[in-house]
Amino acid sequence: MSSDETTVSGAEDRMAGVDPVPGVGKPDPILVADGVRRSFGGLKAVDVDHLEVQRGTITALIGPNGAGKSTLFNLLTGFDRVDEGRWSFEGTAINGRRGHQVARSGMVRTFQLTKALTRMSVLDNMLLGAQGQFGERMAGALWRPGWARQERANTERASELLERFRLVDKRDDMAGSLSGGQRKLLEMARSLMTEPSMIMLDEPMAGVNPALVQSLLSHITSLRDEGRTVLFVEHDMDVIMGISDWIVVLAQGRVIAEGRPSDIKSDKQVIDAYLGAQEDEAAESREGDDG
Ligand SMILES: Nc1ncnc2c1ncn2[C@@H]1O[C@H](COP(=O)(O)OP(=O)(O)OP(=O)(O)O)[C@@H](O)[C@H]1O
Ligand SMILES: [Mg+2]
Repeated sequence: MSSDETTVSGAEDRMAGVDPVPGVGKPDPILVADGVRRSFGGLKAVDVDHLEVQRGTITALIGPNGAGKSTLFNLLTGFDRVDEGRWSFEGTAINGRRGHQVARSGMVRTFQLTKALTRMSVLDNMLLGAQGQFGERMAGALWRPGWARQERANTERASELLERFRLVDKRDDMAGSLSGGQRKLLEMARSLMTEPSMIMLDEPMAGVNPALVQSLLSHITSLRDEGRTVLFVEHDMDVIMGISDWIVVLAQGRVIAEGRPSDIKSDKQVIDAYLGAQEDEAAESREGDDG
């Protein structure tokens, strides 16, 4: 894994010459999805014909509320079942795998609402992350040969990550005593326990105070600069435009646009479907502040 500068420009280089059109192929995709669909009753929540995520980039998944972003995350990571569709990660088909199996193949995710176990210590939350994706039962781990050695290695890795995410002073505190922002950091730290090559973050900055937002942003950039692939959902356009190498826009379950930040900013369809509405909301809230 190389220095920050070379990797940042590396991420840009890898997107050079990629056309900003929905479903476009990438030079070295880590994730490739085809015909992924999921309906709830009559509502087509996800209806993605083709999507590729370029390895080693920060890719933002954006779109209005209810566009299907979280549902797409759930499907790809084995937390919900598709009606149809197939996708591969690192060249291997992983559709049909469950959350913990997907995590073991190297793709982990965090949730829009954090899933820290509040009555468990910060350290124990981390150790549970080592079992693969969170939510998997710990049973089975207990009679694996070499368990004690594994446990020591996990504790060591957990400590390093808690250090990196500035949570080491909290390691013995209950996760429930952490602030909202610290829980987001804990969830990100925990997802790294399995050394994933791709990390999917569902609104990692939501409800986090501005100081912690900066810290989360620099953590996300470092993940990319270490060679990992980041796919994240976010609503704050300044954050998205500032940090993303590539942006995918979802509306009513479909990919309506993708491209570099500069392509997306000027895309008429995106402005109509999303950015325009966001600007109206911002203007309304400014008027509200004046009154
Ligand atoms: N389990 C479910 N049962 C029924 N409908 C659902 C379910 N999960 C999601 N939906 C619906 O599917 C659509 C997509 O929801 P989803 O949560 O994926 O959107 P989103 O893009 O993540 O939105 P937000 O930005 O508000 O988080 C919405 O209309 C939502 O109400
Ligand atoms: Mg969502």
